[in-house]
Amino acid sequence: MKATYIAAQGGTDQFVYGEIPEPAIAPDEILVRVRACGVNRLDVFGREGSHGVRMQSPQHVLGLDLAGEVEDVGSYVAHTKRFKKGDRVLGVGSGGTYAEYARAPMDRVHLMPDWMSFEEAAAIPTVYAAAWRAIVVRARITFGEDALVMAAGSGVGTAAIQIAKYAGCRVLTTASSDAKLEKARALGADIGINYKEHPEFSKQVLEHTGGAGVDLIYEHIGQSVFDQCYRSLKRGTGRLVTNGVTSGHLTQLHLGQLWTREVSLIGSTMHPELDLPAIMKGVARKALRGVVDRVFPLKDAAEAHRVLESNDFFGKLVLVP
Ligand SMILES: NC(=O)c1ccc[n+]([C@@H]2O[C@H](COP(=O)([O-])OP(=O)(O)OC[C@H]3O[C@@H](n4cnc5c(N)ncnc54)[C@H](OP(=O)(O)O)[C@@H]3O)[C@@H](O)[C@H]2O)c1
Repeated sequence: MKATYIAAQGGTDQFVYGEIPEPAIAPDEILVRVRACGVNRLDVFGREGSHGVRMQSPQHVLGLDLAGEVEDVGSYVAHTKRFKKGDRVLGVGSGGTYAEYARAPMDRVHLMPDWMSFEEAAAIPTVYAAAWRAIVVRARITFGEDALVMAAGSGVGTAAIQIAKYAGCRVLTTASSDAKLEKARALGADIGINYKEHPEFSKQVLEHTGGAGVDLIYEHIGQSVFDQCYRSLKRGTGRLVTNGVTSGHLTQLHLGQLWTREVSLIGSTMHPELDLPAIMKGVARKALRGVVDRVFPLKDAAEAHRVLESNDFFGKLVLVP
């Protein structure tokens, strides 16, 4: 099959588009004929070998998200009758989705709505699994709260804005440009803050909340914004849920303010097998949509990574084999 793999960890010049063997599936996996796959920031970390991500094999195929048609099912999946050849599915694969075929554990895959394109479907799984776990499960978002979503134009940010609106909240969000904030408003965000213009964005957050701060912050940038996020939390109810460290993982924490202001810091990763069922209900109701910025042919994965690293996009970049 055709795939785009990396020959070694490094720059975008490490991508090779070529033939590799089709993956073999385990009893609880399905083989998907990939029609579209989403590009995640994690793929960039995997390509670079940064943020502690190590390469798994000499011809390592990146990619987690997939949308496509079921090609084959493992013996256990066949026994459950949950999927059959030809089903249109989306999900978080077992890795290696930058390819014509990829495997995925059956509990991380769902039937996609008839009306949805493969490109939109591929923009959903990882970012919604991450944002849902953080906001709904870990930080327990509550109707009517003020929620601050960091980096409106990031994949996880576009998911988080929609989840917080779905939960009946007022959404404040940050971005590096007014153009991204305009798109965030079209997605449902109530208040946009340009954090290049306002590096001390906590002042804007306090202004928009009558000096109180927000109840919930969905944070995934890390080091460069932690202090300003911490200052944006509301006394008593403020929860900062952290789900990524794109800009770095070290920070200083004023412990005194943690307990005197009774705010909470929460860590969150993703468990698509637990959270995709609830997410897919919101998707079916069209309350949660995949936000596709641009689609690239699979052989141009290097170009997609260059665009991702430029941060000049809103939502998801998608590859099509
Ligand atoms: N397993 C999990 O729990 C899980 C799953 C998915 C994602 N994550 C984490 O969540 C984070 C976001 O992932 P994503 O795929 O949604 O990212 P993404 O789409 O690539 O978006 C990242 C955005 O962050 C902003 N940003 C701020 N400072 C930055 C910096 N120093 N370098 C790069 N970008 C910076 C940029 O927006 P502006 O232009 O507005 O600044 C950028 O567009 C990553 O750290 C990822 O590892 C975790």
